Amino acid sequence: MAQNLFDVAGKTVVITGGLGQLGRQFAQTLSGNDAKVAILDIGVRGEVSGDSVLYLKTDITQRRSIESALAAIEKKWGIPHALINNAALDSPPHISCEETSGVENYPEEAWNKIMDVNLKGTFLASQTIGRVMANAGRGVIVNINSIYGCVSPNPQIYEHKKKNGQAFFKPIAYSVSKSGLLNLTRYLATYWAPKNVRVNTLTFGGVSNNQDPEFVKEYSRRVPLGRMAQEHEYNGAILFLVSEASSYMTGANLILDGGWTAW
Ligand SMILES: NC(=O)c1ccc[n+]([C@@H]2O[C@H](COP(=O)([O-])OP(=O)(O)OC[C@H]3O[C@@H](n4cnc5c(N)ncnc54)[C@H](O)[C@@H]3O)[C@@H](O)[C@H]2O)c1
Repeated sequence: MAQNLFDVAGKTVVITGGLGQLGRQFAQTLSGNDAKVAILDIGVRGEVSGDSVLYLKTDITQRRSIESALAAIEKKWGIPHALINNAALDSPPHISCEETSGVENYPEEAWNKIMDVNLKGTFLASQTIGRVMANAGRGVIVNINSIYGCVSPNPQIYEHKKKNGQAFFKPIAYSVSKSGLLNLTRYLATYWAPKNVRVNTLTFGGVSNNQDPEFVKEYSRRVPLGRMAQEHEYNGAILFLVSEASSYMTGANLILDGGWTAW
């Protein structure tokens, strides 16, 4: 029988932000392929853990919070095999007009909040969980990026909002925080290569999620494939990066964006 190149059975995979739109997809795909999945999310409330899934209320901006989640994972399943750094803020909740109206008025608090989660939180999770994987001599880290960490958002997509008297710019802190992941990946990849911990960036284009039809039209016509992604379309890349199928890949950036960054 052919060996399953994308085998993740029995691996313990930690997903930050695992309750979100894409994190849920990754969790279902991995547990559907017999991995054990630990979901670390600030939004965990009454979710029920089981034999192959563990929900842990965790704030990735707080080192102690990640440490206590790791202790619970190690107690149940031992040292994790993989970490998917997926939790991120696009804009903080209760977004203010200043935040979307352009750089000149972009609030410092919004910058701090986004940097705190997207960069510092990703660093703290990598440091805490990467350390034990490195000590075990194996591991995988996947840092979830956006096309807006590779190229600047195109403000023309939001031109239609001006007709309604609104100005909208994708927040600068989101782009800057996501671009920081590219070198966080490269740094950790070379740093932990001797310990057999592979670290890669996985970059996504926009995902369909009941957005305003005008936005969907404007976005889609700038994508070579002519549409937004469906939320399941990144699951194959997750299996690839977590499994031995990507055993010679580290420090790289895998881009799934329908061709957005190709022209
Ligand atoms: N959805 C898209 O169109 C898209 C496109 C490109 C990249 N991405 C990236 O994919 C990833 C997932 O996106 P999504 O759309 O599923 O996001 P989402 O907003 O649906 O989910 C994010 C999750 O992170 C959690 N979270 C926020 N702050 C946290 C903290 N301090 N500690 C722990 N958990 C915290 C939230 O509770 C939430 O469950 C993000 O990194 C995002 O930047 C998304």
